Amino acid sequence: MRKPVIAGNWKMYKTVFDAVRFISELKDLVSNVKDVQIIVAPPFLAIYPVVQEVKDLNILVSAQDVFWEEEGAYTGEISPKMLLDAGCNYVIIGHSERRQYFQETDETVNKKITASLHHGLIPIFCVGESIQQRESGKTLDIIESQIKRGLSGLSASDMKDVIIAYEPIWAIGTGKTATSKQAEEIHAFIRGILKGIFKDIADNTRILYGGSVKPDNIDELMVEPNIDGALVGGASLKAEDFARIIKFKTKLR
Ligand code: 13P
Repeated sequence: MRKPVIAGNWKMYKTVFDAVRFISELKDLVSNVKDVQIIVAPPFLAIYPVVQEVKDLNILVSAQDVFWEEEGAYTGEISPKMLLDAGCNYVIIGHSERRQYFQETDETVNKKITASLHHGLIPIFCVGESIQQRESGKTLDIIESQIKRGLSGLSASDMKDVIIAYEPIWAIGTGKTATSKQAEEIHAFIRGILKGIFKDIADNTRILYGGSVKPDNIDELMVEPNIDGALVGGASLKAEDFARIIKFKTKLR
């Protein structure tokens, strides 16, 4: 059984004050949720204050990026060790916005994943195709290459906790969600690739969908057998919407 994960990627939104207030609203709305892992990914500056707010709650904290070195003369960067020290358990790596605006490549993604695992920080590793790649029939090739390069050199035991997020770029912030069937097709494909590399571990890997997930489409996405949760952008910024997504309805609940 894969425990579902609902993660909120706040991107470059919320001051420390807003972040702390958000947690105080969210915690009451989701206090009785036990069967879903709730994660929030605030901007770096709000991580520590949010960690203080979620102590003893059913909410864990993720960063949105990390550098691969442990420490050194790397102005502006944050290391896995610093994130763990601040109370983070997870880190989003390879988000398409980082690939698009900050020269992230499959190679840097791989270094970040490897360094994070080495320190005990769990990667939420993002992959996804652009609209041009989808329309020219390259989706599966792109996803396969991102997965294989991003996870290059990892052992099955390294892979044990890694979370994958499939986020088609054309669905991010556009209001255009992949249909649940479109998403399921890619999720099943990703699990197949993972089985080829990591064998049985792949059955335990959580694969999240991201891209315009909202309270009104989460239920149908979560019906699909290979969709194990969601990485939510815009709709994770409002406590009520995020709580409704966390409380998605399936046949099991
Ligand atoms: P939206 O939910 O705003 O489309 O963003 C998705 C995303 O990029 C999450 O990482």
